[in-house]
Amino acid sequence: MEITTKSQPAGTALMNQTEENVLHTYNRFPVVFQRGEGVYLYDTEGKKYLDFAAGIAVNSLGYHYPGYDEALKDQISRLMHISNLYYNEPIAAAGEDLVRMSGMSKVFFTNSGTEAIEGALKAAKKYAFIRDGHAGHEIVAMNHSFHGRSIGALSVTGNAHYREPFEPLMGGVRFADFNDLESVRQAVTDKTCAIILETVQGEGGIYPADPEFLAGVRNLCDEKDIILILDEIQCGMGRTGDYFAWQGYGIKPDIMTCAKALGCGVPVGAFVLNEKTARQSLMPGDHGTTYGGNPFVCAAVHKVFEIYEQDHVIDHVRELTPYLEAKLTELAESSPFVSARRGKGFMQGLVIKDRPVGEVVKKALEKGLVVISAGADVLRLVPPLVIEREHIDEMLKILAECLA
Ligand SMILES: Cc1ncc(COP(=O)(O)O)c(C=O)c1O
Repeated sequence: MEITTKSQPAGTALMNQTEENVLHTYNRFPVVFQRGEGVYLYDTEGKKYLDFAAGIAVNSLGYHYPGYDEALKDQISRLMHISNLYYNEPIAAAGEDLVRMSGMSKVFFTNSGTEAIEGALKAAKKYAFIRDGHAGHEIVAMNHSFHGRSIGALSVTGNAHYREPFEPLMGGVRFADFNDLESVRQAVTDKTCAIILETVQGEGGIYPADPEFLAGVRNLCDEKDIILILDEIQCGMGRTGDYFAWQGYGIKPDIMTCAKALGCGVPVGAFVLNEKTARQSLMPGDHGTTYGGNPFVCAAVHKVFEIYEQDHVIDHVRELTPYLEAKLTELAESSPFVSARRGKGFMQGLVIKDRPVGEVVKKALEKGLVVISAGADVLRLVPPLVIEREHIDEMLKILAECLA
């Protein structure tokens, strides 16, 4: 695929070099980002972009947040990797952070969100295996969910388009409708060992769980000793105004998965278990990883938690959310091309009508605003959590132009 652009003459060669050598699984936008500063990105031509995508909800601290780079450089100069056969300093600190902030019991670090899902599914299956003395359990997942692209994670992803070419996938998965408790009840059988759902559906189109729905699923799980797995990979780490979105619902999962902003740019994920599942699931030999939780990524995780606490990052999200929501609602009400706003905290979606959402995303990029889409028609806004009011105003000005 030959790319030619007027706006990125130097970038054109890089784009073509990429397309010649890197498997074409993404229809990339014709821009080569070279560096970031604060909440702005710069391409190879020096053009400046306001970032409201944060590398798909990863870069919660923006770029070069004070102290972050230094902590990583310091760890590189000491020890990058050692394997999980030995102890190291950063995993001790990062593990404690995650347990303390979640109020859960034990952590297993992975390299990605997908692997966190894999581990969570294995832990739930193993829990039921130990309890019942046999395998053959089922999992209930949600329609329009997204949990990753590996065979296991794809098996619980409720999007036929992603799944079909790779079937048969993992068996024993039943799908129910998100925010429809009766549908979940109907999908549950005597064999169900886990229910998995995103606390706020991300890729599916930014749908927060209804409080009654989540409370109902929690009760159902308690009644039948089913493991509730909440996927916080996109909505976690402060994005909704709580460390983990479920903390805003007054319920607790048995297992939670997180990734993305957990390391704010280094590839790290985790599944976190409550006491019950930690005690009775994965034992030595049941699960492992070469890289997962290595000193480099755990130094990043620990620093992220330290910055969140010291600089009150989550308070900042809470303070600014009413402004962001009010302004987006105003835009939704005034633009003939937006039919609704929905979301929680700094995870917001605008439902675009009468024009393809991809067109709006492309236009925004041309005008120096990075946003992404979700589902078929949703413009997704998942900015760094450190944006200020002026950045919201700047985003709205550009978006209004794109929707004019
Ligand atoms: C809710 C959710 N779960 C799982 C994943 C998969 O995470 P990763 O891409 O890090 O493997 C994603 C990625 O977008 C996600 O949004």
